[in-house]
Amino acid sequence: MAPTTKRPTPLIFVSHGSTMMLGEQSVVSDDWERQGRNAERRGIKGIVILGAHWEFPGENLVHVSIKKNPGMNPIAWVAPQKYINFQLNCDEALGRRVWKILEEGGVDVVLNDKDDWVHDSVIPLKWMFPQACPPTTLISLNTKYNPTFHARLGQILSVLRDDDILLLGTGGAVHNLYRNRWPNIIIYRNNFAQPVPPKKWALEFRQAFVDVMTKSPEADEDGSVKVKEGATRLMHHPLFRDAHGTDDHYMSVCFIAGAAREGEKGARTSEVWELENMCNAQFQIGEW
Ligand SMILES: [Fe+2]
Repeated sequence: MAPTTKRPTPLIFVSHGSTMMLGEQSVVSDDWERQGRNAERRGIKGIVILGAHWEFPGENLVHVSIKKNPGMNPIAWVAPQKYINFQLNCDEALGRRVWKILEEGGVDVVLNDKDDWVHDSVIPLKWMFPQACPPTTLISLNTKYNPTFHARLGQILSVLRDDDILLLGTGGAVHNLYRNRWPNIIIYRNNFAQPVPPKKWALEFRQAFVDVMTKSPEADEDGSVKVKEGATRLMHHPLFRDAHGTDDHYMSVCFIAGAAREGEKGARTSEVWELENMCNAQFQIGEW
């Protein structure tokens, strides 16, 4: 790989929210579109995604997708015409490259050419690249939900950032389906209805999350964040289980945090709330 004088490709963390985020315009979808143009201007060569809805058990194991033309699992509450013509672009060469880097880093990897993709990856890809999806691959979660393991995946793959590969985590800042309020989406298909403010636990955890991503207490004097320490520590926050009823939407935070480098700064690029208590905050670490 030729040396580059460019900054490493920034990291993106997406809170993908409900499936309706695929079809509804918002400040967040505008942000995703902007990030897509930023990525195209930079000339990214590919995207590596770790999400929330593809997972396998194992001691030290992940799957990497190399499925040609993967399908999309059904996406509830979104008219099919809003996404049915969008063509995912799973790139086998990129998948094999990720496999090799992870294997050399001591991770066991299965190349997976069978599974279709889910809305956690389809939502950001469709908004960011509506005309043509760049070469992309997915990494599965490991169902031990070990934050340091998923941070290590990011750390190992961070080298790809120097070759114009975008690492993207897709999960949630505050994402507890058991504590969302569902009537407005079920009855009226209104995912953004906010008849009452979010609950205090949701607001407090959201603030702790923003602080970790943008100004964690471990920050250096120049303000650069130590996001890996903050992200793994946040799983011990007293409100973590209120904000994340399950761990699956948090491992991508750890993945992105692990890929961050000393001195990089994080920024919240947009935010919207759904279902009263779900915070879809979006982040970028590093600069284009
Ligand atoms: Fe999800």
